[in-house]
Amino acid sequence: MKVNQAEIVISAVSKKQYPNDRLPEIALAGRSNVGKSSFINKMIQRKSLARTSSKPGKTQTLNFYKINETFYFVDVPGYGYAKVSKKEREAWGRMIEEYLVERENLRATALVVDIRHEPTVDDVKMYHFLKHHDLRVLVIATKLDKIPKGKRTKHIQRVIQTLDLDQDDTVIPFSSETGEGKDHAWKTLQLYLK
Ligand code: GTP
Ligand code: MG
Repeated sequence: MKVNQAEIVISAVSKKQYPNDRLPEIALAGRSNVGKSSFINKMIQRKSLARTSSKPGKTQTLNFYKINETFYFVDVPGYGYAKVSKKEREAWGRMIEEYLVERENLRATALVVDIRHEPTVDDVKMYHFLKHHDLRVLVIATKLDKIPKGKRTKHIQRVIQTLDLDQDDTVIPFSSETGEGKDHAWKTLQLYLK
């Protein structure tokens, strides 16, 4: 997809702030610092529309990015970030859960995992949470540039096995550094946006 236009519409913390123009939405979920915001930037060829950081916990609200006036990427705070208080973590959890479970415009969730590591217990929980709620899941195995070519297949297999992926779920090896996987990701997302 050629992206001509991209803008942040709102950083929401509650339902009443969500956009009400009924455009389809694609959410990003995953561990803190895994590369969700970087994924959005790479997909839309904007260096820093979605704010990123080498420190975890950068995205703290539901950020709605309107793309080509046709759909939204919804950047979601990461899980597993130890430095926030328990209370704050619970509030984020409720905010994310409410969005994922109740949002009618949500067409699919891109679950972003780090291809270098075995998916964590939280990743497995998130995958099964999404499946349990009959939400469409696309797994993005990012930071592919950090794995030598000869070892990639093994790492992808480990992602599939640990998440216990359904056969019809897609895993896309991806790199926000090199852009590998970008075309594949767009093709898959466009199917969901139809
Ligand atoms: P939170 O907002 O804290 O949940 O994090 P996030 O998942 O949005 O991660 P973010 O996009 O901010 O990226 C975290 C760090 O990982 C940054 O330093 C990025 O530059 C780096 N990063 C993200 N994607 C890639 C990638 O594909 N390859 C490499 N080498 N680094 C990446
Ligand atoms: Mg982020």
